[in-house]
Amino acid sequence: MKGRDGVLCLLTDTIDAGILDAAKGARVFANYAVGYDNVDVRAATKRGVLVTNTPGVLTETAADMAWTLVMAAARRIVEGDRFVRKGRFHGWGPMILLGVDVCGSTLGIVGPGHIGTAVARRAQGFGMTVLYAGPGSSDEIRRIGKETTLDDLLRRSDFVTLHVPLTEETRHLIGERELRLMKPSAILVNTSRGPVLDEKALVRALKDHAIGGAGLDVYEEEPALAPGLAKLENIVLTPHAASATGATRGKMAVIAATNLLAALRGERPPNLVNPGVLGRRET
Ligand code: GLV
Ligand code: GLV
Repeated sequence: MKGRDGVLCLLTDTIDAGILDAAKGARVFANYAVGYDNVDVRAATKRGVLVTNTPGVLTETAADMAWTLVMAAARRIVEGDRFVRKGRFHGWGPMILLGVDVCGSTLGIVGPGHIGTAVARRAQGFGMTVLYAGPGSSDEIRRIGKETTLDDLLRRSDFVTLHVPLTEETRHLIGERELRLMKPSAILVNTSRGPVLDEKALVRALKDHAIGGAGLDVYEEEPALAPGLAKLENIVLTPHAASATGATRGKMAVIAATNLLAALRGERPPNLVNPGVLGRRET
């Protein structure tokens, strides 16, 4: 980092006070992700360093992935694939790998922001009732769904999907207590950040059949998995890949580079997450 004017960083790079001090002279950290919990924004702002992210371009791609996990968990797609590959499919049977209906069920969206809203829009095609909880709701999700409390959402939803950023307020937002409020048949999907969910509590809940299943794209100690997680059948696991399409990763790269270059030219980057830095400079 030493001697750089700006840095394009990944969500796996921890940008803390120590790194910021080592990168003394860098004007900008352009994160190649919409989430920026890997950056100590307060420490950056204190040092007058700009931080940017890549919102917008990955919204629809991430919403597709949340839906992929909903469908895969509901219809036991990965279990079915393993079943067929192992040569255990000996012909159609009325009780083979029964799942639950997505169509007509209730979807609970925790975090009704851009991605949460895109997930809600897709739910209309499945004739679902949409509930949402958490701050930052859009006009669109207010038209599609009904706002409620987190506890009520957890009690009533057949599918719960998490779309909040990781902050001190959302760390372990879903823990033992919350999981036990869910229906025993319900499916939990997390494509946000691992620590939003207490992963050890999830392992216990899945083992006890306190909930029906889960789909995870992110992990608390990524890339490590909580003990026992990978042994469970009733969970689908993907490798933090919600924005992983060629088209979307390309757009994220262009946006991150655009932010970086704007900052280096002394312009306001389009996706600045700490405008306080400029405010301070102007005064
Ligand atoms: C991916 O997790 C992102 O925040 O862009
Ligand atoms: C299943 O294949 C059916 O025809 O119901």
